[in-house]
Amino acid sequence: MTNLFSLAEQIRKCTACPLWKKRTLTVPGEGPENADILFVGEAPGVEEDRKGLPFVGKSGTFLDEMIQIIGITKKDVFITNCVKCRPPNNRKPTGKELETCTKLWLEKQIVSIKPKVIVILGRVALQSVLKKTNIHELHGKVITKNKQKYFITYHPVAGMRFPATFQKIKSDCIKLVNDINIL
Ligand code: URA
Repeated sequence: MTNLFSLAEQIRKCTACPLWKKRTLTVPGEGPENADILFVGEAPGVEEDRKGLPFVGKSGTFLDEMIQIIGITKKDVFITNCVKCRPPNNRKPTGKELETCTKLWLEKQIVSIKPKVIVILGRVALQSVLKKTNIHELHGKVITKNKQKYFITYHPVAGMRFPATFQKIKSDCIKLVNDINIL
């Protein structure tokens, strides 16, 4: 089994898709090896690219609030993205970039961490990880696939832009606590 540390080392050197050419730093993810909850976002933004850490920009404060509602602390969870390098000008990652990075790295991180639940943040991660698109229907729900539990909610950036969406994210977090025995 490949451990998370060695995966992160490999991710830092990755040139498997064109995103490496414009990145400052890769963002493998952050958190303990035995985390019960794994959060999966879309791709690093400008702050994340600069620091090499996930969700350290403005949307990170919304993710912090979600973590607080769940009743855990940031050091208890693993946070990563489908794509480990920032797409230039914050464009959406392409299907090919998502497929390459998810297969090459995210799937291996999941095998290594073995989380009790993977929290899917937003439509891009939903599509990339679960091949599903209807976030409005699926948010707040648990999906079990190959014995792995996934919990779907909106992306913190959507919550940052739309207060009504942030309310939905907050009630999703409460559902997560009630529906899954993670604490
Ligand atoms: N948005 C994401 O999806 N991931 C980050 O790390 C930051 C912003």
